[in-house]
Amino acid sequence: MVPDLSGRAAFVTGGASGIGQAAAVALAAAGARVMVADIAAADATVDVIRAAGGEAQALVCDVSDADSVLAAVAATVAAFGRLDCAFNNAGILGPLNRVHEYPEDDFDRVIAVHVRGVFLCMKYQMQQMRRQGGGAIVNTSSVGGMRGSPLLCAYTAAKHAIIGLTRSAAVDGGADGIRVNAICPGVIDTPMTQNGLGDVDERARRVHAIPRAGRPEETAALVVWLCSDGASFVTGAAVPVDGGWTASI
Ligand code: NAI
Repeated sequence: MVPDLSGRAAFVTGGASGIGQAAAVALAAAGARVMVADIAAADATVDVIRAAGGEAQALVCDVSDADSVLAAVAATVAAFGRLDCAFNNAGILGPLNRVHEYPEDDFDRVIAVHVRGVFLCMKYQMQQMRRQGGGAIVNTSSVGGMRGSPLLCAYTAAKHAIIGLTRSAAVDGGADGIRVNAICPGVIDTPMTQNGLGDVDERARRVHAIPRAGRPEETAALVVWLCSDGASFVTGAAVPVDGGWTASI
């Protein structure tokens, strides 16, 4: 039941870890050639893909930096000849503070990585996708993009903004054959949640209808489907992959 992405070229940000790593592996397993971009080294992701017989390369990219994103998209097109699927997923949680105590530098950095990062990635990806007649983009928002979260004002604002960016880009790109969607994960067991949120399982059991944390592979399956022809009439959507969390808010 895995969608067929044979012959497609994919670009994944935040691909060194967690949800991005799982998505890069899943996109490659579906047949795509994958450029794994991250501010940290992503060689381990490439090793996993190659060990399974897939095709991937890694590059270093800071999604908040325009030159870095432009170079990364250009390197992907140089390597694979095209860009069919993009998963704009890089992110940071930022510190946990109430609004009146939230440090301004941290606020700016969280917004830069998520909001400016998704904007820059889509800008340069859509230029390439227009040239070649279409493509599919998936951005990582969050359940935190649909509700307020305690102690996470910058992250929450950024994830709301990613849904707005996704909808605008879907409207702009529809006539060019470019679909743009967002995923809204619940509590997924990754280094971000393990390091930033404490007891991941306890937190997940408290909020999800399915009483456990999500696995990165479960978000990756949605990303692969949204990138595939099976989702040919789906655009501008913000799709929860959250164990039913949003069913009860
Ligand atoms: P993670 O910490 O395991 O992975 C994030 C990756 O992004 C890391 O490899 C990191 O090096 C990279 N990154 C950070 N800043 C970057 C930058 N400026 N340029 C390029 N790469 C950068 O975290 P996880 O959990 O896999 O998160 C991935 C995305 O999913 C993030 O956008 C996060 O906000 C989102 N998310 C995660 C949830 C969870 O429960 N884990 C829930 C909802 C959304």
